[in-house]
Amino acid sequence: MVQDWTPASWRTCEARHQPVYADAGALDSALRELAAYPPLVPGTEAQALKAQLAEAQEGGAFLLQGGDCAESFAEFSPETIRGTALLIEAMARRLAAASGLRIVRVGRIAGQFAKPRSRELEQKDGLALPMYRGDIVNGLAFDEAARRPDPERMFRAYGQSAAALSHLRAVEGPEPIYTSHEGLLLPYEQALTRRDGAGWYASSAHFLWVGDRTRFAASAHVEYLRGLTNPIGIKCGPTLGPDLLRALLDTLNPGREPGRITLISRMGADVERGLPPLLRAVAAEDHPVLWACDPMHGNTERTASGYKTRPLGRILAELRAFFAATRAEGVRGGGIHVEMTGRDVTECTGGADPVTEADLAARYHTHCDPRLNRGQAMEVAELVAAELAKARGAEAA
Ligand code: PEP
Ligand code: CO
Repeated sequence: MVQDWTPASWRTCEARHQPVYADAGALDSALRELAAYPPLVPGTEAQALKAQLAEAQEGGAFLLQGGDCAESFAEFSPETIRGTALLIEAMARRLAAASGLRIVRVGRIAGQFAKPRSRELEQKDGLALPMYRGDIVNGLAFDEAARRPDPERMFRAYGQSAAALSHLRAVEGPEPIYTSHEGLLLPYEQALTRRDGAGWYASSAHFLWVGDRTRFAASAHVEYLRGLTNPIGIKCGPTLGPDLLRALLDTLNPGREPGRITLISRMGADVERGLPPLLRAVAAEDHPVLWACDPMHGNTERTASGYKTRPLGRILAELRAFFAATRAEGVRGGGIHVEMTGRDVTECTGGADPVTEADLAARYHTHCDPRLNRGQAMEVAELVAAELAKARGAEAA
């Protein structure tokens, strides 16, 4: 058992990016009800994923993590779930063929509903309303009623997660797709924390990660993750230095358990400056981690017409830089983390069948960040396949 930890001990720490619910009584009764619901995933499956991530750390497997930036209630359909699952499968097959490795498939799916936002308020037409924080919290529409945080939304998120999980089990191929999301909305995560065997598990997904905005020292999010038995991720952006990373690893994996920690580099154009000191610090401490690359979150820009987009060229450039930086330090680049959808969206620019800035308006459906469409995601897979084939060649030589 982890010392001095309970599913509620995060409440004594600083919790950033949490909604303020107007009706505390309604929130309490929602959380009490959720706490009596069945777990969405069993601890044994989280444990199985952890074993596969440990294998990836050893070089026998590679992590492919991907899906929506923010799942939404409106886009929920069997086609959407199936589209993401089949895209993960197609990418995984390409990567497996090039590398000979087992590909660990993890979706940003069945629970990825809460978003950190850089501002508290959104201003439009002289009106200031709370920012949209994901469908589990409030609605995207710019009106006062929709933007009010509503605890009842947690039930809809739970129900959609359960249905998505059940549909994933029906459509998936021979390899199971595991589920993951940012463990952001702490009251919800606490309500779904379950004792299973010897440990405590987040039962909302197999894998939770802490975001780049909430991984500071003494963070409530870090405190919550500390006591879980699940495998977890830490987003590593340009403002993360080696000292804080070492402290986070000591807090979150004091026993240096293999498979427990995935470090997700999201440096944007800063890979050469930001990543090597982190790679060295972790290696020097002998902390077992899996290094993965999220080439999306450091490469977001806004077009003149106001769309948030990401040029595929920059995404591919960050992936290349990530594999070069890890190779140079003798560290395995062991996974990728991407925002993508099987739907034919126009959200990121570029690609072999290029999406131009003028095309963005045509099928821009995301509720938060721009996602790769199927063709763009397969181009990412192609580049990673080439990198893995190169690494395989170097090992054989
Ligand atoms: C995300 O993964 O959706 C996200 C918000 O990422 P980050 O914390 O790395 O900015
Ligand atoms: Co995002």
